[in-house]
Amino acid sequence: MNDCAVLETSQSHFVAPLIGSIISTSLVALSLFAVDWRMALATLWVLPVAFAIVAFSARVQEGFSRHSMKARMDCEESVQEFLEAMKDLRSNNAAGSYLDELNQKVRAMERRAIISEFGTAAFVVSASLILKLGLASVALLGSVLLMNGTLSVPAFLLFLFAASRLYDPLEVSLQNLAAIIATRSNIERMNEILNCPIQTGSERLTNQGCDIVFDHVGFSYDDGEEVLHDVSFTAHQGQVTALVGPSGGGKTTAVRLAARFWDAAHGKITIGGMDVSRADPESLLSLYSIVFQDVTLFDNTILENIRIGKKDATDEEVLNAARMANCTEFALRLPEGWNTRIGENGCRLSGGERQRISIARAFLKNAPIVLLDEATASLDVENETAIQSALSRLIKDKTVIVIAHRMRTVAGADKIIVLRDGTVAEQGTPGELMRKNGIYAHMAALQAEGQEWNLLI
Ligand SMILES: Nc1ncnc2c1ncn2[C@@H]1O[C@H](COP(=O)(O)OP(=O)(O)OP(=O)(O)O)[C@@H](O)[C@H]1O
Ligand SMILES: [Mg+2]
Repeated sequence: MNDCAVLETSQSHFVAPLIGSIISTSLVALSLFAVDWRMALATLWVLPVAFAIVAFSARVQEGFSRHSMKARMDCEESVQEFLEAMKDLRSNNAAGSYLDELNQKVRAMERRAIISEFGTAAFVVSASLILKLGLASVALLGSVLLMNGTLSVPAFLLFLFAASRLYDPLEVSLQNLAAIIATRSNIERMNEILNCPIQTGSERLTNQGCDIVFDHVGFSYDDGEEVLHDVSFTAHQGQVTALVGPSGGGKTTAVRLAARFWDAAHGKITIGGMDVSRADPESLLSLYSIVFQDVTLFDNTILENIRIGKKDATDEEVLNAARMANCTEFALRLPEGWNTRIGENGCRLSGGERQRISIARAFLKNAPIVLLDEATASLDVENETAIQSALSRLIKDKTVIVIAHRMRTVAGADKIIVLRDGTVAEQGTPGELMRKNGIYAHMAALQAEGQEWNLLI
């Protein structure tokens, strides 16, 4: 946003006056040449020199402004991080040392800003000094020519007057030029965003049904290390497919790939025979109701937060979805009920309450594919049971992929895929996997040991 503001100011306040002054100076220069070319040269020679100094300083200035911008971003990111992580920093007694570091960053930013301003000023001031030499050379040459008798007194006075008026606006132009040069690093950063490849694809969805097929899928995030290797499985419509496995195994990644948040590097993912990488992401997402592991909420009312699931939903529809997701009890406790604003990212709600809003969105959207990533992880048992039964109504006849760490949540699934270290380690029905006595059976046994409840498989 800062880059945007800088570029806006540069366009409206620097570029236009600079072009204006180039035009007006050219006109004045032409008239001066028409009066006396020798005196005109004495007046104008300083212009190219002064502008050349500023223009040639571009590289040095760029270095200054890049460093200064980096220091500022460092500082801004730390401030934001501090605000977001304050409770973790406090609980680890680390707020003090974090603030010390932040202070150092503020000072570094200050130092960089001063160096950058001084650097730019040094070039602009030297260029301005050169401009002042113009007046001296007019006076000098004018006096010589006057004594020679080749210049009239009125013409001399004219040049002195022109020179005294010409340079002041040009000094402002020099500053403008320096400011325009300094925007280069802002432009580069904007271009980084603008040049990001955009996912495109056909807006017409050609899927026949909603079976999701992963066919030898490989994927890595930006930094290159593969997080999914050769993953193949099918999630059938009308069935619940559960992804389980150790943390970091690639479950969330797989689910996000199914919704084309990224494109797979190898292999392909199809929905009812349609390659997702050929579909327009926006149209594709109309097929999905997703409840993410990390819920994102907006600083708006509860009703509007749920309405994100379906923009044109009536209040009645929204309330219905909210009731199914057990939001009623906590919503009515809030000061303005359904119309209470819930703060930035829902900071005025508990984890379980936030999750219920996210589930309500999925109920409202009611799309043919349902992706649930730890959807009920932060709910208490009572809420979980109630929502599980509502979910089982939601997922009827749909393609459902559910990720869960609690084995009892997935014990009723039609199929279980165990993802470990980015590969499919096991797959089959819960019964088959229990009999196989592999990773799934081990995880289930461990959880059964650690909990009071029984596994009903
Ligand atoms: N945005 C990201 N950029 C880079 N690497 C990532 C990103 N998100 C996840 N990873 C890496 O990809 C791997 C798989 O992560 P993923 O979130 O899919 O695991 P998971 O099975 O969902 O784990 P959990 O059960 O803890 O939610 C991890 O090693 C993680 O470090
Ligand atoms: Mg995950």
